[in-house]
Amino acid sequence: MSTKFVQLGTPDWPRHEIPESGPMTDGFGRRIEYLRISVTDKCNLRCVYCMPEEGLPWLRKEELLTYEEIVQIVREMAPLGLRRLRITGGEPLVRRDLASLVRMLRSIDGIDDIALSTNAVLLDGVAEELREAGVDRLNVSLDSLIPERIDSIARRPGSAEKIFAGLDAAQCAGFTPIKINCVVMRGRNDDEVETFANISRERPWHVRFIEVMPTGDNLQVQSEEFVSAEELIERISRIGKLKPVAGPKGNGPARYFAFDGAPGTIGVITPMSHNYCDRCNRMRLTADGQLRPCLFGSIQTPLREPLRRGEAIEPLVRETLRIKPERHWLTHGSDQGSGGLLALSQVGG
Ligand code: 5AD
Ligand code: SF4
Repeated sequence: MSTKFVQLGTPDWPRHEIPESGPMTDGFGRRIEYLRISVTDKCNLRCVYCMPEEGLPWLRKEELLTYEEIVQIVREMAPLGLRRLRITGGEPLVRRDLASLVRMLRSIDGIDDIALSTNAVLLDGVAEELREAGVDRLNVSLDSLIPERIDSIARRPGSAEKIFAGLDAAQCAGFTPIKINCVVMRGRNDDEVETFANISRERPWHVRFIEVMPTGDNLQVQSEEFVSAEELIERISRIGKLKPVAGPKGNGPARYFAFDGAPGTIGVITPMSHNYCDRCNRMRLTADGQLRPCLFGSIQTPLREPLRRGEAIEPLVRETLRIKPERHWLTHGSDQGSGGLLALSQVGG
């Protein structure tokens, strides 16, 4: 069978030797056990570091994988060592009846952890159902604690109120701890870093600061408002002694710290200042069924059409592992290394 994959702009992308059977391992010896699944490219917000105010050219309905198709892919990857899933978007809760997808994924042998990344706008009302369906953990994007600011960063008036209701609903439904993701931008929200950090003293929340990454649409924000994690840690250290800690379950690339006696932690995700590609354990499935070995770069393997023709997925998964790159090559204020992505929402963040 011929394997098909897209290598936009990188016709001679190197292939590496990989084990041809057994658990998924790439050419650099990294075990892949984690899949981030984007269920939609759409979003109900327009965060300034993410997508343009007018939105993006959205995928058409027939281009999206159905829930059954997503389940089929996971079912074929689980025997290859897939263990953990994260559901992302765009904003995953804009897709109808997400709980039914979670229920189906939950029933697959080998999958022992399902997390959800959301902006929380639509969480109030569905948090409980999602928990019962089998979502183990939640990551909520929250870039400010000031309502007007939330609305202006998200460029959607009225969001803050819904987000706070969503966070309350998440707590009531028993999602603890909750991870908060905050993208820090100079002059926009960096004056709140200490306030965010102090939340970890009061609640068992894990507040994670993310360095803004360049995508085709945010280059100005990225180059002009970038704040490094090093600077943040230095600033937070001035309000209390930070000790390095292991971090919550499911910790991927973040480095974690905690104030003495605090129930929560403070994390930094540093895609720009330190890449953590050497520990990469993941691949991504886009809403239209591209299997991406790396968040950035232009390599992806289309699974949707082979799946619709009834073909096996494993050879395509192995081919994607063979071309998984060693690292990304992001540079400030340039979309060179991002592989022409307009926004992370296109590939599931
Ligand atoms: N740089 C850093 N983080 C980003 N996110 C979206 N776009 C970017 C970017 N360009 C974050 C969101 C969310 C997570 C899924 O990705 O804030 O927390
Ligand atoms: Fe939506 Fe998330 Fe992008 Fe904000 S960062 S516009 S919430 S996909």
